[in-house]
Amino acid sequence: MFDSMKSLALLRASQLVTLAGPKRPRVGQELSELGIIRDGGILIRDGKIESVGSSDEIEKKSKSADVVDLGGRLVLPGFVDAHTHLVFGGNRLDDFERRARGETYEQIAKAGGGIWSTVQKTRAASEEELFETAKKRADWFLRCGTTTIEAKSGYGLTLNDELKLLRVMRRLNDEISLEIVPTFLGAHAISRDMPADKYVDLVINEMLPRVAQEKLAEFCDVFCERGYFDIEQSRKILSAAKKLGLKARGHVDQLSNSGGAKLLAELGATTADHLEKTDEQGIAALAKANVQPVLLPGSVYALGLREYPRAREIISAGLAVVLATDFNPGSSPTPSMPMVLSLACTQMKMSPAEAITAATINAAYSLNRGDKIGSLESGKIANVAVFDCEDHRELAYWFGTPQTYSVYVRGERV
Ligand code: NIG
Ligand code: FE
Repeated sequence: MFDSMKSLALLRASQLVTLAGPKRPRVGQELSELGIIRDGGILIRDGKIESVGSSDEIEKKSKSADVVDLGGRLVLPGFVDAHTHLVFGGNRLDDFERRARGETYEQIAKAGGGIWSTVQKTRAASEEELFETAKKRADWFLRCGTTTIEAKSGYGLTLNDELKLLRVMRRLNDEISLEIVPTFLGAHAISRDMPADKYVDLVINEMLPRVAQEKLAEFCDVFCERGYFDIEQSRKILSAAKKLGLKARGHVDQLSNSGGAKLLAELGATTADHLEKTDEQGIAALAKANVQPVLLPGSVYALGLREYPRAREIISAGLAVVLATDFNPGSSPTPSMPMVLSLACTQMKMSPAEAITAATINAAYSLNRGDKIGSLESGKIANVAVFDCEDHRELAYWFGTPQTYSVYVRGERV
């Protein structure tokens, strides 16, 4: 019976970036400690990491394993992307062109573009169409070295259309290698079909109970912003979600400092995302409540803005920082964590090592999966990304060219 348990040895990594360390999200100086093994190897059995060490050590334990010589390439745990909007219809090319002409995100939204235009295209698309386009995009993530993503609904804004998006994610999880952690974001924009308070009631009384009952999401998110959901509405929605067993995340202080970070601290949310406009008090509140900040520099870059979240202050305050793509058609059309690492280093003054920690083990903890993924340690799932370079700093240094060489999910090459 043991013959069916396939083993695989990956040997001769120039740097095996293990992220081995304390079994909790990393803060402060720990963000710089990557646990690198030079000339490293991994032994994988039955989709899990059996042991990690020097190539020679691992080779000795690999008698019956298939052996892959990585030829001195860089090895990391697969990236964990903790904030994406994977499933949607159409694109936002017109918004993109308008921004190039100088219009802002909010002006374009008012003029018929923005989230609402994607909602209309998403409603018009069948579940099958949405599945096929999302599947293609899921492949982009794998090709960038990402093996787990969080994905939000939020382009349906009716009970049936939100359920449709979450069902697409469930089917993707069953059929493709990329792991998807689903989040319900019914409160992404106020539906133009009804008054705001009626829509909030619909989210609370009809959508959330169905999502919880069908176990279609692990988290609930809200876009807390002027013109979207205010503090009171956001509090009501996230509190209702918590009662149903969903954990909270939130889009806060992206375009204006509305006190969203403080609200998420008050509610004991798992993450507070964006934070471009959060002030010191907001940062202090997140630190006190142990909320993980998810920074999304891709959206600042793609909107042509200048103000990136203040990563140095956030790290100094002792927060367990996470980096993610915010992949979405409007404000951040990139699936690339290496691109995000580049932005983190050049625009937010994070070191390459801090950025890698934020994109792997810390992101894994923010999805409640810190015990299973995000580092290369024995017992963890064998999600591994191999890059065609030698030094971990090269991931953020070379930008605009893919460096992924091979990707393994549960020990299988994808
Ligand atoms: O994270 N801020 C709200 N949601 C997305 C944008 C979505 C869209 O424009 O379609 C974001 O930036
Ligand atoms: Fe987002």
